[in-house]
Amino acid sequence: MIVESTPSSWILETHNTAYALGFNASGALLHRYWGRKLPQHSDYPEAANYPNWASFDGPQNLWQEEFPVYGGMSYVEPCLKTTFADGTRDTVLEFVKSETQGDELQITLKDSHYPLEVILHYRVFFEHDLIVRFVTLKNLGSEKISLERIFSAQWHFPLHDTYQLTHLSGRWNDEYQIRREPLGHGTKVLESRRLTSSHHHNPWFALERGDATETHGAVWFGALAWSGNWKLTAEVTNFYATRVSMGLNDWDFALELHAGETFVSPEALGGFSLEGYGGASRLLHDHIRQNVIPHGPVTHKVLYNSWEATFFDVTEAGQGKLAELAAEMGIELFVVDDGWFQGRHSDQAALGDWWPDAGKFPNGLQPLIDKVNALGMDFGLWIEPEMVNPDSDLYRAHPDWAIHFPTRARTTGRNQLILNLAKLEVQHYLIEMLDKLLAQHPISFIKWDMNRNVSEPGWAEHPQGKEIWVRYVEGLYHVWDTLRLRHPNIFWQSCSGGGGRADLGILTKADQIWASDNTEPAARLSIQEGFSLAYPALIMEAWVTDMGTAPLEFRLHVSMLGALGIGADLTHWNEAERALAAHWIAYYKTIRHIVQLGDQYRLRSDRDLRGLHGQVGNYSSWMYLSKDKTEGVLFDFRTHLSDPVVLPAIKLCGLEPESLYQLEGHGTRSGLAWMEIGVHLHPLTETHSNFGDRSSSVLKIKKV
Ligand code: GLA
Repeated sequence: MIVESTPSSWILETHNTAYALGFNASGALLHRYWGRKLPQHSDYPEAANYPNWASFDGPQNLWQEEFPVYGGMSYVEPCLKTTFADGTRDTVLEFVKSETQGDELQITLKDSHYPLEVILHYRVFFEHDLIVRFVTLKNLGSEKISLERIFSAQWHFPLHDTYQLTHLSGRWNDEYQIRREPLGHGTKVLESRRLTSSHHHNPWFALERGDATETHGAVWFGALAWSGNWKLTAEVTNFYATRVSMGLNDWDFALELHAGETFVSPEALGGFSLEGYGGASRLLHDHIRQNVIPHGPVTHKVLYNSWEATFFDVTEAGQGKLAELAAEMGIELFVVDDGWFQGRHSDQAALGDWWPDAGKFPNGLQPLIDKVNALGMDFGLWIEPEMVNPDSDLYRAHPDWAIHFPTRARTTGRNQLILNLAKLEVQHYLIEMLDKLLAQHPISFIKWDMNRNVSEPGWAEHPQGKEIWVRYVEGLYHVWDTLRLRHPNIFWQSCSGGGGRADLGILTKADQIWASDNTEPAARLSIQEGFSLAYPALIMEAWVTDMGTAPLEFRLHVSMLGALGIGADLTHWNEAERALAAHWIAYYKTIRHIVQLGDQYRLRSDRDLRGLHGQVGNYSSWMYLSKDKTEGVLFDFRTHLSDPVVLPAIKLCGLEPESLYQLEGHGTRSGLAWMEIGVHLHPLTETHSNFGDRSSSVLKIKKV
């Protein structure tokens, strides 16, 4: 709900929160409040109007400006930096008008001299306590305007407090590691310069005062909907103001707005929860399921993926055999990974030539698809459209389509180059080629991969080559959206060598993310925990493979925390192993609506530094509860603890206090008792001969 409190002052109310902004007497648009909703509109502070503090620090350095621009005596992180046609590098924005359209507030500003219009958009998601911000820039004149920085939003936090920044960092095979650190004076930068959102930092953050826990306390959080170079600046000014800005990365960046042109920035999302990190992530989970992913909150199938079984050695007979074994185990979707297309026998060649390999599939893909369908499963396929191997028909025909500088050698990564998706002819080729593949075959699922980062980011024939960073991502979105619209029933998965491209932008195309190539289950527990801070279990594809030495049951349970899949070589599994997997797949189908569509509670972290009786972490517990709070499921994992050990009481969350709940094998108690006293899971120390390490349990919870 958007309330105009006094002229040119607004309160954006959500279910539990409020965000207030307004113009001050000097005509600057300032932040007023963001936090818990207050009873009266008059409770919110007015836009401040600090005077000059010293000749070194004008008011712009003290104000909490909603959208500070580079101009005047402002030295804080700006959201916008421009150069006008006459060389002026100073922007002065003035209020023109405001408009409310449904759940969106639009504030139009214009430069005081130059024909640059800036519209600030605030979209309110009432139910999820979220605000989405973005900005439209218009050149109303006849000469070009150069844009050197465009951030989508600056978020402000209550003054004078010291904040802890939580972010997700990592690398290939080790994504989404949770980092938590105090913010000190100066600017902390998180970013990607890799053409994609990257494994290395995820465009998500959370901020709190050092007093928030999983279950309690004020947590502000945000995310950027962009799958290319992005930047986050977390600045603590010399006046004890903390602000976080998010937007396109301004490194090696330029964008030209020609006469009459408009640019719309990516969306930046911000939210606030009083229920700690858990509350913050549940808001994001609901929002992503309901408002972001294409197919919305529907359960995802249990899939089999053949990559780790066959690698490039894909044949019709070999895949057919795996399909038979998969179907017997209750798999619902059979996905053929890399290695199926013309000339693909290793990672040396063939990317770009997206038709079935004539030797491996003499009669095309259809016989295999028919077999998979006859076994009762849907069929899915892996593609990596943005890439090209120099050894491919596509590259031989169009070497100029790869991103490159003409005078430089082209650095390959995994023997491949990146097609310049900023070019219309490349977009057109991919759309037609992939459309043909999808139109000719009954394909239900596509895993869209991207297996390297950029080098030599040239776009020789374009007058402003640095635009490649933005135009590439726009091209990618265009190709994907066109294919999606032409084939609306396909479920898409975003993969980039594991979890290198998970962000709110790609999630408007893909219903799922392949979170990591690391499928070793203990490592996976950490990766999945980090992932869960921002993204729901529904979209987290999680395979059971043969990686590591953990018992099969433990591996199955770890993957059941997300959208369960199997990626092992089933021809090497004995009958007992296949029967065990079949048992847990059947079990998973009875709980998946809770795991995928319910509320998730991280009851205990594997990396809990408070330790367990002086030991460090290595014991984790997860709970999922249906939205109507009638059914739940409790997962526990013991990774490594020295015996003898008394496991901690696991306190359940989210139950109705007065209602009675049965916890499988542990009796019936009130919701409040399960939440206050919890449960001790002794069997975790006894079920395996290795003193209980790498043992796990799954228990159903039922309201009686
Ligand atoms: C990437 C993916 C894997 C697999 C391979 C195929 O590494 O993350 O899951 O698809 O590519 O080459």
